[in-house]
Amino acid sequence: MKKKGIKYVIKKGNEFYPSDEMKKIANITDAKIYEKANKDPVKFWGDLAKKGLTWEKDWNETYTEKLPYFQWFKGGKLNFSVNCVDRHLANPNKTALIWIPEPKDEKPIKISYGELYDKINKFANVLKSYGIKKGDIVSIYLPMIPEALISMLACTRIGAIHSVVFSAFSAEALKARIEDGKAKILITSDGYYRRGKPENLFKKAKQAAKKTTIQKIIVAKRTGTKTRGRNVLDFNEEIEKASSYCKPEIMNSEDTMFLLYTSGTTGKPKGIIHDTGGYAAQAYWTSKWNFDLHPEDTMWCTADIGWVTGHTYGMYGPLLVGATSLIYEGGPNFPNPGRWWKIIQDHKVNVFYTAPTAIRMFMKAPQKWITKYDLSSLKVLGSVGEPIDKESWMWYFRTVGGSRCPIIDTWWQTETGGTLINTIPGIGPFVPTVSGKSFPGTRHSIVDDEGRPTPKGKPGFLVQKSPFAPGMLHGVFNNHKKYVDTYWKKFKTMYDTSDGAYLQNGLIRITGRTDDVMKVAGHRLATAEVENAIHDNKKVDDVAVVPMPDEIRGQVPMAFVVLKKGKPSKKLEQELRKYVDIKIGPTARPKRIFFVSDIPKTRSGKIMRRILKALLINEKPKGLMTLVNPESVDEVKRIINSNS
Ligand code: PRX
Repeated sequence: MKKKGIKYVIKKGNEFYPSDEMKKIANITDAKIYEKANKDPVKFWGDLAKKGLTWEKDWNETYTEKLPYFQWFKGGKLNFSVNCVDRHLANPNKTALIWIPEPKDEKPIKISYGELYDKINKFANVLKSYGIKKGDIVSIYLPMIPEALISMLACTRIGAIHSVVFSAFSAEALKARIEDGKAKILITSDGYYRRGKPENLFKKAKQAAKKTTIQKIIVAKRTGTKTRGRNVLDFNEEIEKASSYCKPEIMNSEDTMFLLYTSGTTGKPKGIIHDTGGYAAQAYWTSKWNFDLHPEDTMWCTADIGWVTGHTYGMYGPLLVGATSLIYEGGPNFPNPGRWWKIIQDHKVNVFYTAPTAIRMFMKAPQKWITKYDLSSLKVLGSVGEPIDKESWMWYFRTVGGSRCPIIDTWWQTETGGTLINTIPGIGPFVPTVSGKSFPGTRHSIVDDEGRPTPKGKPGFLVQKSPFAPGMLHGVFNNHKKYVDTYWKKFKTMYDTSDGAYLQNGLIRITGRTDDVMKVAGHRLATAEVENAIHDNKKVDDVAVVPMPDEIRGQVPMAFVVLKKGKPSKKLEQELRKYVDIKIGPTARPKRIFFVSDIPKTRSGKIMRRILKALLINEKPKGLMTLVNPESVDEVKRIINSNS
């Protein structure tokens, strides 16, 4: 391991703190900021938003609240793409985006702010020419290629609402999202490269668009696969024809900027609504303070744009700050486990942000693949998406960070738009497994079932208190009831995060979801969503899905199936696992499917997932009295044991 590079942290007892070198460069170093912000969070955010963003018109009211809704910067006007690109054009040659393709014979591509500006304007004109205007929804089903960023920003230029769907999701998953939002245009690609081979994306996109509101499919060329069809247009040809300036649509701060579908406790994902000004303010300031991002930095967030992390820190945060963002195509350890670390070395990445699943995977790889690269450009390491255990934290800290860089364990959600609980690089402390404090100007609390703060250090439900952070969701698309039921029903005046947490020396430690949401390799999935998918298969009579702890992926779905037809067999197990790929995508594929004759349920028919979870990890299940069919437990136990 090459240990060169600036030492940004020092050890004090069992904790790490920013070193003098870090304090010298950090965007924020004074711990008093928390107190200062807490005195008047509304004024605090008002000042930050004014300072950090370019507004066309000032707002009349910084914050208004009529729960369960609230608005930031009401009356304020701005355009998001102007904030991401136009205002950095004083230096048009500065690199905005570095894109690393997977095939070895292809070279990385750098796109400057000037080039990005040109492409966004042109593509915005393309969208306009096909009738897209402010408030229309555009579906984006793209892999990690520059066109993804161009498409998203072009939407924001004209006030269209983008709805990005993860490219590994199936045609059916895409179709459901298109139908919910009634999108008129679908932007996709012919395919992408993953693990050495081209994957066809267009086929899925075309299938999904059939018999929906989609009028045109715009296809970015990547693999050269044929993409024919009546309303199929070529991304580049369209751009070439378009005129080069598109006047930015001036949006109200609280106008919707994007939808992102995420899993809840039911089988149907919900469209989380994010606004423009509030989201931008939080994305900008969290990038600056939580990742200590400076315009001269290169940030690499490894998340796909199909997830909120990819939106906010793979693209928007770095651009709002005027920094360089790096994105990559392909698998993390293909063609070898050195890929990521070579990228960091070659492109001198300063801020690296990834998920514990990846960290655990690389921890198990031959270490020479990591240690042979020079990672001394790194300044800040981030972790997101799931709780990080101590061993992985220490490995990340020592092996990747060379014991020099702070690890920022950022807690947040699709709903919060940007990071909210973590320590700040210039302030600290950096404590393994502990996320940290609420971002200045935001308030969280840990409460019991009744909404009362738990006694110090006792676990409880993590809630957010008013005034709600500027980046917070502004509802669930077309579903007020779901918005109320999911986030406000339990604690009324406090936002229910559905996460458990406790305080450790005044810092927040996240314990994980308290609902039926799984985090599979950091990806959010509802048990009910996977159950619905399997249930759709004609051979299935009943099904239960539960997460099981997994050494690498954090959690993996396990399914228990009662068959209507057919005999239990390995072949049928594979068939049903593959069926989930068609319904949702491989991310949701159960690791195992156990065929049982009955599923433990309560009298009211509720699946007792707690019992199944205990059986899977070989623990004695509690609360069997509540079951209508206690005899099912012995059978499930027997089947798990005989299959393991
Ligand atoms: O359970 C929490 C977990 O991820 C959930 C949100 O998932 P999603 O909306 O997909 O957004 C993921 C990326 C922001 C949360 O409810 N989670 C997120 N970050 C952490 C975490 N759990 C523990 N520690 C974290 N740092």
